[in-house]
Amino acid sequence: MAKIRIGLGVTGGIAAYKAIEVMRLLQKSGCEVSVAMTRHATEFIQPLTFRALTDKHVIVDDYDPANPDPIAHINFSQEIDLLLIVPATANIIAKFASGIADDFLSSTYLASTAPVMIAPAMNVTMWEQAATQRNIERLKADGVHFVEPVAGELACKTVGTGKLEDVENIVDQALKLLAVPPAVAGGTDMSGEQILITVGGTREAIDPVRFISNHSSGKMGFALAEAAVARGAEVTVVAGAVSVEPPEGVKVVSGISAQEMFDAVMTELPDATVFIGAAAVADYAPADAADAKIKKEGRETMTLELKKTPDILSEVSERRTEGQLVVGFAAETNDVVGYARSKMEKKGLDLVIANDITAKGAGFNSDTNIATMITRSSESELPLMSKRKMADKILDEILNLRKAVPANAARSGNS
Ligand code: CTP
Repeated sequence: MAKIRIGLGVTGGIAAYKAIEVMRLLQKSGCEVSVAMTRHATEFIQPLTFRALTDKHVIVDDYDPANPDPIAHINFSQEIDLLLIVPATANIIAKFASGIADDFLSSTYLASTAPVMIAPAMNVTMWEQAATQRNIERLKADGVHFVEPVAGELACKTVGTGKLEDVENIVDQALKLLAVPPAVAGGTDMSGEQILITVGGTREAIDPVRFISNHSSGKMGFALAEAAVARGAEVTVVAGAVSVEPPEGVKVVSGISAQEMFDAVMTELPDATVFIGAAAVADYAPADAADAKIKKEGRETMTLELKKTPDILSEVSERRTEGQLVVGFAAETNDVVGYARSKMEKKGLDLVIANDITAKGAGFNSDTNIATMITRSSESELPLMSKRKMADKILDEILNLRKAVPANAARSGNS
């Protein structure tokens, strides 16, 4: 797949240095970044910094004799998939809004057909100024996306809205905007697949009031469901405890405890062509949940006896019929690939998505993830990216595996 190309526009504000971090995160996510700076931005940070890190000429002025491309604003603007402005001053917003093209970056904006995302940063009064807000409204009406600044202490020592949004969030929103390339949106490359996914964390009752659970949000599982539906698959999700809404177009079945999730999966399994175990299923549950609320009176300590829960993924693998593909997740803190490979062997999986849950940007509740995708014959890195984008990468790999295992066999095997 060709790399996503981002044109990063840097304008003259104190937050200009944060554009370096944005560029690095975009590169880590597999994007190719080209940088354009306004003259004022170069007062805060040297073009050389970006040049060294992108290995590309950084354009400030079209007319600079050192510029290798004589019609740079046209070529640059045609060769990007997104124009991302970090940070954006009130001045560049005003120029974009009124169509002024008196420098390289403003000319690029006019000459580009790519989507535009703007992350403003400025003094609170400049931000709240009627002219600035009017310009923003006008740009929004023109289809420009904004990553709004947040409240905090500003460089000018005032407190208020105007601080650049966290760089991770800016990158995340940019990746989200690009997550579904037009070629994939409304696609059909997964039509005929019936995908069964476990999502979220399970809750294991201690008594009618309390339970044992974990931090899983369901975001990765739902991202997979959303991506699969967008590509034409039929999707059933067995959901434990989740903190986000399920996507549209998905059949949702509840399975809150490990046992309930197990039962729901086994009911749905015969129709599935692919099973993905994305849930964080408790490995142990209270051996004997109390029927009535446990009272603390007379107890200084309390011991809970736990018993092993059924392993859904192993059982699915055990019961698999010809043509069914089985995919698992492995959340590890050390020797990530080693443990994931042994999980693949032990549970008889076709594909494992291994996470180092200690890595920044790969947490339970995060919108982003970092993983290694492992099959019996391959291993590929999935650098920091939105969970939605990672979902598409995982589905690409499933389709790759499908070439060797025709799906029809799965359903005819069960009929
Ligand atoms: N899984 C499952 N049913 C369980 C436990 C886990 O389906 N009772 C699935 C998860 O959905 C995930 C994979 O198995 O796809 C995770 O494997 P697991 O062995 O549970 O990982 P850990 O608990 O982290 O394993 P270990 O204790 O070996 O570190």
